[in-house]
Amino acid sequence: MTLKRLIYASHPFGFDDLVLANILKTAQTVNARHDVTGTLICREDLYLQLLEGDRANVDTIFEKIARDDRHTDVEILVQENTTQRLFPAWAMRHDPAKSWMWTREQVSGGAVEKATRDEVLAIFVRLVAEEPGHLSGLPTACPIARSNN
Ligand SMILES: Cc1cc2nc3c(=O)[nH]c(=O)nc-3n(C[C@H](O)[C@H](O)[C@H](O)COP(=O)(O)O)c2cc1C
Repeated sequence: MTLKRLIYASHPFGFDDLVLANILKTAQTVNARHDVTGTLICREDLYLQLLEGDRANVDTIFEKIARDDRHTDVEILVQENTTQRLFPAWAMRHDPAKSWMWTREQVSGGAVEKATRDEVLAIFVRLVAEEPGHLSGLPTACPIARSNN
């Protein structure tokens, strides 16, 4: 089945734990209802979200997200078809930004918006790869299925 993958970046407006918890709660409820999955990478200076699912459902949810006043400068970075979800088990995962992603200076200098499709996608692929037991067919208890980084 062909799915839509959409990745956008934005700048949080009024970011704190409560705001984030409310966003995630809504996202998890609504997305689960519409079989949309993905993850939200977040930090005070950055939201980077991946959404995957039926095209119409992803578009409808993204239209609401784009109008949300809890962030600004919403910019689509990747929009494409896919047959495989990167986060099939997550209506909306929460991924605090990692040190290997962009620095604050890079974000404020526009590095996220300038990144290529492959660079953006590589961030999400790395997050998946860092999950213990991500190698399909291997039990999670198998040592080589675990990431030591
Ligand atoms: C950074 C960010 C990410 C969001 N992610 C989702 C999401 O994945 N799914 C969702 O339904 N709403 C998400 N929301 C919330 C929507 O913008 C909106 O508040 C929600 O869909 C409810 O809209 P409604 O009250 O018009 O039905 C997100 C909001 C922000 C600021």
